[in-house]
Amino acid sequence: MAVMDAAFDPAYGEAWTRRQVEDALLVGNTQYRLIAATGQPPLDHEAAAGFFLSRTGFEEEELLLLGVAPQYRRLGLGRRLLDWLAKDARERGADRLLLEMRQGNPAENLYRAFGFTPIGLRPSYYRAPSGGRIDAITFAWPANS
Ligand SMILES: CC(C)(COP(=O)(O)OP(=O)(O)OC[C@H]1O[C@@H](n2cnc3c(N)ncnc32)[C@H](O)[C@@H]1OP(=O)(O)O)[C@@H](O)C(=O)NCCC(=O)NCCS
Repeated sequence: MAVMDAAFDPAYGEAWTRRQVEDALLVGNTQYRLIAATGQPPLDHEAAAGFFLSRTGFEEEELLLLGVAPQYRRLGLGRRLLDWLAKDARERGADRLLLEMRQGNPAENLYRAFGFTPIGLRPSYYRAPSGGRIDAITFAWPANS
């Protein structure tokens, strides 16, 4: 939750509360992974630097949240979390990853570099800090899925 609170810009209201995370995990088809600054899973009592939360569907895995604490960015942790997600998803029987992203989020560079491609648009899906609305782009991986 410390990474959640540090990683997401409060202006967009994208961070989940502890309660939302707990409720999602209770359902059973939702899971998370933590990464330490070392690029490995945190050892006992070692702080997390990043995480993902994902939901398994029928032959698809949806990335719900991906966050790296600001002081640990551009070190490859986000990319490694996506590697882990793809591997985990495959082991769970999913051959396709999906995610939805606010248009203009620099995370797009990471997703495209990983091989995600845009497959859809939800107009005015997110609320903008200015009070306006922002489109959501749906990305899929691999590209031909
Ligand atoms: C998106 C996020 C998870 C990326 O984590 P990260 O650990 O910094 O990503 P990586 O270091 O693995 O980046 C790998 C590559 O992705 C691209 N990239 C990542 N962040 C980028 C940014 N802010 N701007 C431009 N390119 C970026 C770069 O190509 C980068 O390689 P490089 O550093 O060699 O140029 C992190 O910026 C974050 O937590 N953002 C806020 C939360 C968020 O918006 N999450 C996504 C929506 S759920």
